[in-house]
Amino acid sequence: MKVTVSRKAHFNAAHRLYRKDWNFEKNEDIFGKCNNPNFHGHNYELIASVTGDIDKETGYVIDMKVLKDIIKSEVEDAFDHKNLNLEVPEFTDLNPTAENIAVVIYNKMKSKLDSNLELEITLYETPRNFVSYSGR
Ligand code: NI
Repeated sequence: MKVTVSRKAHFNAAHRLYRKDWNFEKNEDIFGKCNNPNFHGHNYELIASVTGDIDKETGYVIDMKVLKDIIKSEVEDAFDHKNLNLEVPEFTDLNPTAENIAVVIYNKMKSKLDSNLELEITLYETPRNFVSYSGR
């Protein structure tokens, strides 16, 4: 029997979508307004879902306090009020699209979880645009 527990979190961050190996015109063509050299910000909403067996002793899949602390250290402290391109090493050579941010969050959080727990990351870049990644 597998149960999923989820926690929501939030961070603000700035980014620019572009490739260093493309000229400005091609970046403008592909990424449009998101290629603004002066960056732009988003209010990112995160849902981290952890799936596993219920521990017989505690009745928990994961202690929410533990999940909260992992989100704080791996996501909020690392990304909140940061320029993703300039201040977050994972994006030095990785375009900070919602897709890539979700993968980076997944990898950072997964390494902090017991290996028998599954993780799914859902990341909202806007209220209507969101991506999911679960390690597949
Ligand atoms: Ni954007």
